[in-house]
Amino acid sequence: MSESNRPDPRDPGEAPSGRAAKIVLLLASAATLAMLVLAMVRENFLSEWRWHQRTYRQMLQASDDPRQRELGDAVAFELRQVDLPQFGTTDRCVSCHLGIDNPAMAGAKQPYAAHPGDYLANHPVGDYGCTICHRGQGAATNFHEAKAVDAHWDYPVLPPGLTQSSCGICHDAGSPLMAEHAPKLALGRRLFEDLGCQSCHRLHGVGGQLGPALDNEGLKTRHTQPMADVVGEPTLANWLVQHFADPQAVVPGSRMPPPHLTARQTEALTVYMLSLQDRDLPQTYVAGDLVTGWDRRLHQRTTDGATLFANYCMRCHGEGTYGSYDKFFERFMPAVRGPGLRAMADETYLRRQILDGRPGTLMPGWNAQTGGLTDAQVDALVNYLKAGDGGPVQTLRPAPTPLAGGDSARGGQLFAQLCSACHGQAGEGGLGPALSNPSFQRAASDELIAATIVNGRADTAMPAFQRPGTAGLTDAEVRDLLAWLRTLALKGK
Ligand code: HEC
Ligand code: HEC
Ligand code: HEC
Ligand code: HEC
Ligand code: HEC
Ligand code: HEC
Repeated sequence: MSESNRPDPRDPGEAPSGRAAKIVLLLASAATLAMLVLAMVRENFLSEWRWHQRTYRQMLQASDDPRQRELGDAVAFELRQVDLPQFGTTDRCVSCHLGIDNPAMAGAKQPYAAHPGDYLANHPVGDYGCTICHRGQGAATNFHEAKAVDAHWDYPVLPPGLTQSSCGICHDAGSPLMAEHAPKLALGRRLFEDLGCQSCHRLHGVGGQLGPALDNEGLKTRHTQPMADVVGEPTLANWLVQHFADPQAVVPGSRMPPPHLTARQTEALTVYMLSLQDRDLPQTYVAGDLVTGWDRRLHQRTTDGATLFANYCMRCHGEGTYGSYDKFFERFMPAVRGPGLRAMADETYLRRQILDGRPGTLMPGWNAQTGGLTDAQVDALVNYLKAGDGGPVQTLRPAPTPLAGGDSARGGQLFAQLCSACHGQAGEGGLGPALSNPSFQRAASDELIAATIVNGRADTAMPAFQRPGTAGLTDAEVRDLLAWLRTLALKGK
């Protein structure tokens, strides 16, 4: 464009730019108006819920039953909602799910069908709404936002196979009522106990500490879980299913061993996990069986040693009668019911190990604050370990006396040669237990340590270093090792 052709901005007569602006403004207003009209038409005549209400009305009006035709005539085109401030929800699901409590609509296509089962008879729509059981965005008025699977909403509609999880909000997953009416939830609860998940997870104040507490697992969201490696929609339900299949695939470096579940078990455990929601419910929504469940948890806790061992210890220690190698953790698990430990450890030692655990190792603590077991339960466990499988205990060769006066420097050299491959350079543990652990050092007497070195532990990887008939370590060398091991008490973390 040349200089002369440019309009002079100081010339008010010749103002093509002003005219253009007016035209643009006019067009813009027209467009806005058209959009408003369109939106209005869409909302009032084309919106999904209106369309469903018209269809529902026509379905009823075409019925042979005069009662249904009457109901059809009475269908008003309006948003319907159930306000439940006690849950903080406004559920408009019934704007589309119009036949939900009309028995004549049993088996009709969605969203017009009557609700399956007797769920709504026991939980009237006006008092419960829908999202307390199904999740989803109650206030939404279109299908996509109501399901809220891929959106900003934290709690998308549950896939139908997982809806039983919500029963656990107000009912006790372990109750006979749930065994009958929510069998998946009940199975999930049973598996959780039988598979020893509480070896590593606290729930209701009881359990190990290697994994996170699970009291509010069902309230986790796509923001709390690492979704990067989840296949499909980034929902908690998908996360849980895929985490059960392979924890390391979803949480890189996870220390949760793959639980090796069937599809049915995965679904049941996912239902149970989703049910774990520590909510403050209004009294009227707390079902009787939930109260019974709380009471049982507080006042009727088992003191059966075998059950306690199965629920809290077996996942790591196996039967405990021999020292098993754990492929996942790549180490030996102590034979806590084995003939060796039974022969050389007294009740006080066992009780201390159970109560304190060994912080910094896999072994959790089980006192009231950490693992949440009662004194009576810990006593039952001690007796259970002491009894072993009923077989004879290891015959012990006496340890040298006295035990004091060893040379710790010489002991350190022996340890490096004979022991460090299993127990770590500085006794910090490896294939075998951590000997520098303060909890072990505090509880273990000189006699226990010496007896272990002299005799080894039968049926475990711990060798005897003074076997009858073979040369082995001299008494002085056992004393030296003991002296060096005791210096670890000061260094142990
Ligand atoms: C007390 C809990 C509860 C409430 C409240 C509840 N539902 Fe359900 N609903 C369920 C369960 C559980 C199922 C799955 C039934 C089954 O396993 O076959 C279900 C099934 C359904 C289905 C059928 C799903 C399918 O795949 O066939 C629809 C649709 C449905 N509910 C909608 C609603 C709507 C809409 C509301 C609110 C008016 C509602 N529900 C309230 C528990 C509930
Ligand atoms: C705008 C209308 C609309 C609203 C609002 C709506 N739904 Fe639906 N819903 C449908 C339709 C349509 C289907 C059938 C979809 C299909 O078959 O693919 C359906 C199906 C379902 C199903 C069957 C299983 C499924 O996921 O397909 C459930 C459960 C359900 N809705 C629950 C709810 C809940 C809970 C709410 C409230 C948060 C809700 N719906 C709100 C229209 C709606
Ligand atoms: C928001 C709380 C809540 C939810 C969620 C809930 N219920 Fe209930 N349910 C109750 C209450 C409260 C009662 C009344 C009975 C009582 O107090 O024991 C009840 C009663 C029942 C009854 C009748 C009990 C009887 O003794 O006759 C059954 C069966 C039942 N619920 C099953 C379920 C199932 C299955 C689910 C999950 C799909 C579920 N409930 C979800 C609170 C709930
Ligand atoms: C040997 C210990 C161990 C056992 C046994 C174990 N877990 Fe875990 N679990 C972990 C650890 C560690 C994590 C944290 C790392 C991760 O998320 O994978 C974890 C994470 C989880 C999470 C995710 C928690 C969250 O929101 O971050 C769930 C859910 C879970 N475990 C459930 C179970 C169930 C159910 C069982 C029983 C089948 C079980 N775990 C058995 C150690 C264990
Ligand atoms: C998450 C795995 C895990 C769980 C769960 C667990 N332990 Fe252990 N436990 C270990 C490991 C590993 C050690 C050795 C720790 C070390 O490296 O020092 C150990 C050590 C012990 C010891 C000391 C053994 C010895 O030779 O001195 C006792 C006793 C014991 N556990 C009992 C129990 C009991 C009882 C339970 C259940 C209430 C339990 N453990 C639960 C992993 C576990
Ligand atoms: C081949 C591996 C291996 C070697 C070598 C080994 N240990 Fe062990 N040690 C173990 C295992 C495994 C255990 C746990 C035994 C059990 O299940 O009770 C253990 C247990 C012990 C314990 C008891 C720890 C506890 O938690 O109760 C002491 C003390 C001990 N070893 C000292 C030594 C000393 C000292 C040496 C070297 C002279 C040595 N060990 C060599 C594998 C080994």
